[in-house]
Amino acid sequence: MCGIVGFVGRQQAAPILLDGLSKLEYRGYDSAGVAVVSPDGGIEVRKAKGRLQVLSDLIHGGADMDGRIGIGHTRWATHGAPSDVNSHPHVSEGGKFAVIHNGIIENYVEIKEFLIRQGVHFQSETDTEVVAQLLEFYYNECRDFFEAVGRVLRRIEGAYALGMLCADCPDRIIAARKDAPLLLGYGEGENFIASDVTALLKYTRDVAYMEDGEVAVLTTEGIKVFDALQQPVEKERHHVDWEAAAAEKGGYPHFMLKEIFEQPEALRRAISPRLKDGRIVFDDMKLTPERIRALSRVFIVACGSSYHVGMLGKYTLEHLTRRSVEVCLASEFRYADPIVDGNTLVIVISQSGETLDTMAALREAKARGAYVLSIVNVVGSSIARESDDVLYTWAGPEIAVATTKAYSTQLAVLDMLGLAFGEALGTVDAAEYAETVRELEKLPEKLETVLAHHEDIQKYAAEHFNHNSIFFIGRNLDYALGLEGSLKLKEISYIHSEAYASGELKHGTISLIEEGTLVVALGTYGKLFDKAMSNVVEVKARGAEVLALTTESRREERQKTVPNVLAVPDTADMLLPSLGVVPLQLFAYYVALQRGCDIDKPRNLAKSVTVE
Ligand code: G6P
Repeated sequence: MCGIVGFVGRQQAAPILLDGLSKLEYRGYDSAGVAVVSPDGGIEVRKAKGRLQVLSDLIHGGADMDGRIGIGHTRWATHGAPSDVNSHPHVSEGGKFAVIHNGIIENYVEIKEFLIRQGVHFQSETDTEVVAQLLEFYYNECRDFFEAVGRVLRRIEGAYALGMLCADCPDRIIAARKDAPLLLGYGEGENFIASDVTALLKYTRDVAYMEDGEVAVLTTEGIKVFDALQQPVEKERHHVDWEAAAAEKGGYPHFMLKEIFEQPEALRRAISPRLKDGRIVFDDMKLTPERIRALSRVFIVACGSSYHVGMLGKYTLEHLTRRSVEVCLASEFRYADPIVDGNTLVIVISQSGETLDTMAALREAKARGAYVLSIVNVVGSSIARESDDVLYTWAGPEIAVATTKAYSTQLAVLDMLGLAFGEALGTVDAAEYAETVRELEKLPEKLETVLAHHEDIQKYAAEHFNHNSIFFIGRNLDYALGLEGSLKLKEISYIHSEAYASGELKHGTISLIEEGTLVVALGTYGKLFDKAMSNVVEVKARGAEVLALTTESRREERQKTVPNVLAVPDTADMLLPSLGVVPLQLFAYYVALQRGCDIDKPRNLAKSVTVE
């Protein structure tokens, strides 16, 4: 989950590295560092605990460091607390090598003990330092940077994206990848590595994705890539069409708010190309109707908010296809001995396409013979590349740690997939299909009207940001929606929050409701409106203060019991969460704002979670 960037070229490296890191800070932000090969041959390293700005101030925006080749890193600590000394890059004892790393070297203890026996002195508590020290150890034997890297890679176990500098080879960076994202950027007389394409958008759009086991040698002349057997590999280059401006705040105070407001546009991009003459058409899907009909089991596997999309998907897919659908947390699926065979479909959902648990679940599913279809935002990401089929969400780069537009587009794609499956299986009611497709077309516009009322939510948040604990309750789709509302709130405002299926409250959790407890009661799903209302009455009777979310057509009825009502436009049942999630995102945002939280970079979290 750390951010990695590397540059070889003719310009001063440090300012470019800092700029790249500023786009990657969401991957981790407890410390940062850069290393450059200085013109007089040595490796110069500067690093600091804290946000990137601390480092940037320390080196005056990079002006203090002279080299034209360098590597940079922003850290999300795993081994060793955030501190100056544990920050990357790590340098070997003799000062010849500097290394940045994303991932975990699992056998670092054994290597460290070995090197200590050889007389090497370690500085940090990190697993990464063994790579720098081991490089120098092997280099002292073979005097060849590339060969020393090969020997290190054969010795280390675990996951890594590595960027490495050698003082004796001041014209190059060597990079290596296994189970952690790393891409190569091709410029004019300059080349790059990065853990994420957003770091490079300002400099180049021509990229290639490194595969596991590959090693790349970058100079100003070009990039040479080798496989694990050190044979040259011809890389396929991809042109990225994301705008550089998409990774900037564009006048908004936070990326999260910008991304909330980008949702209508993101939905248009996800939906319109797949709607043709009143039908859902996935031109980009290889799964045939015959194969869909032959499926015996369906799993949805994901983490975090993507998992919450899966929870909603279970309700809609089961309704539309009359097949049972199991939703699993990726970290659980992997070790659960899942019942998967050649007729199983595993739908994997991931914004980043790099979440390690999700990736591992995907590999487990494939090893057991399943067909894997993924719903992914980042084009060319590891999950996208390893899936049998991929449906992109086209949400554009998402920078805020708390996901918003990726969630919405994942949900729209999954809803459309459900409709397409229902049609292929002949299980969807024709009138419902037609009405839902019509409503899908109107969804971006309806979402705009929800956003237009953001000030109502801001006002409510300003009055209620001081609660210690907030509950979200709802039934069916509203329950799954509540899970996301609750997660958003706790991620960025640090308020304790729980989401409960309303009917389950009375089996224990209602004991936590007392005078003044805030309960967000979700009642958008018309079929269960009355039942949901009875649960609202129950919590009110115990003194809860209730904020209700419903649809315009039920606003008045709800106001009879609850004075504070937010309403979204009416739409097809299965699309209600797509509208309902927006007031919940805004509520979390404005509450966090009132509490003075660092909204785009909440404590302890990272956007792309590439460790187990
Ligand atoms: C992190 C992010 C969440 C995200 C989850 C899964 O925890 O903070 O917003 O839902 O990872 O990420 P993915 O990229 O696989 O959707």
